[in-house]
Amino acid sequence: MKNEKELEEKILKLAEIIKNSKYLVFFGGAGTSADSGVKTFRGKDGLYSSLYKNKYRPEEILSIDFFLKNRKIFNEYVKEKLPIEGLKANKGHKALVYLEKEGILKTIITQNIDDLHQVSGNKNVIELHGSLKRWYCLDCGEKFTKNTTCECGGIVRPEVTLYGEQLNQKTVDDAIYELYEADTLIVAGTSLTVYPAAYYIKYFKGKNLIIINNDETQYDTHASLVINGNFAEVLDKVANIIKKN
Ligand code: APR
Repeated sequence: MKNEKELEEKILKLAEIIKNSKYLVFFGGAGTSADSGVKTFRGKDGLYSSLYKNKYRPEEILSIDFFLKNRKIFNEYVKEKLPIEGLKANKGHKALVYLEKEGILKTIITQNIDDLHQVSGNKNVIELHGSLKRWYCLDCGEKFTKNTTCECGGIVRPEVTLYGEQLNQKTVDDAIYELYEADTLIVAGTSLTVYPAAYYIKYFKGKNLIIINNDETQYDTHASLVINGNFAEVLDKVANIIKKN
C-alpha cells in the first residue's frame, strides 16, 4: 500500500516536471524494450547470463574481432538472440510518441539497436550504438535493411558498434549537444554500466535528472527523482495525467 502510494506521488511529480520542462530529453537502454519482449543484457535472465551453444560468451560474439573471425556464429547469434522483425511498441514507447507530438519531448538518445523507438513513431532518435535495421557491405558499401549477401560477394555487417569499436563521432556529438541543451533528462531502463554511453549523462547540466529503472544505478544519488518501477507502466500513467490536464 505505502509503496503504491509513494509510486503514485512520484508519478504525479514526474508529470508536473515534464509539463514545466522547456527542453526534455530521454536517454534509454534495454529495459525500455523489455515490455516489447526484447531481452535485456545484464541481470539474471539477461542475454549475457548464459553461454551461446555452451561455448561462446555473448559479449565475445558481439565484438569486431569475433565478427571478422567467425561470421557464421555471429550471424546465427544475432538472428536467434537479437531478432528485431515484428517487434511492437509498448505503452512506454507510445507515451514518448505522444510527448514528442506535443512538442514536449525534443530528443530520444538510445543505447538500443532494435529500431523500436522509430517503429513506435518517434522522429528524433539518436542511436548511440547504431541499429540492426542498417547493414552494409564492407567491400562495395552497398546498404541493406537486414542481413543478406551482397552481389559483389563482400562481407556484410550491421551498422552497430561492436565491442572493440569506437562509437560514431557525429552521433556522439549530436547526443552531447542534446544533453547539454536539456533542462530535464529522463534516464530509463539502463544499468548505466557501459561506457562511454553512461559517461555522457555528465553532460547534462539541467535542473531535473529523473531515473526510471527496476534496479538502482550509480546516478541515483545525482537524480532529483528516482522511480524504481516499470518503464512502460510509469510513462503510460504520466502521459495519461498530462493528457487530462
Ligand atoms: N522497466 C524499467 N527498468 C527495467 C525494465 C523495465 N521494464 N526491464 C529491465 N530494466 C532495467 C534493469 O533493472 C537494468 O538495470 O534495465 C536495465 C537494463 O540494463 P542492461 O541489461 O545492462 O542494458 P543497458 O543498460 O541498455 O546496456 C547498455 O550494454 O551490452 C551493451 O551495447 C549494449 O546497449 C547495450 C549496453
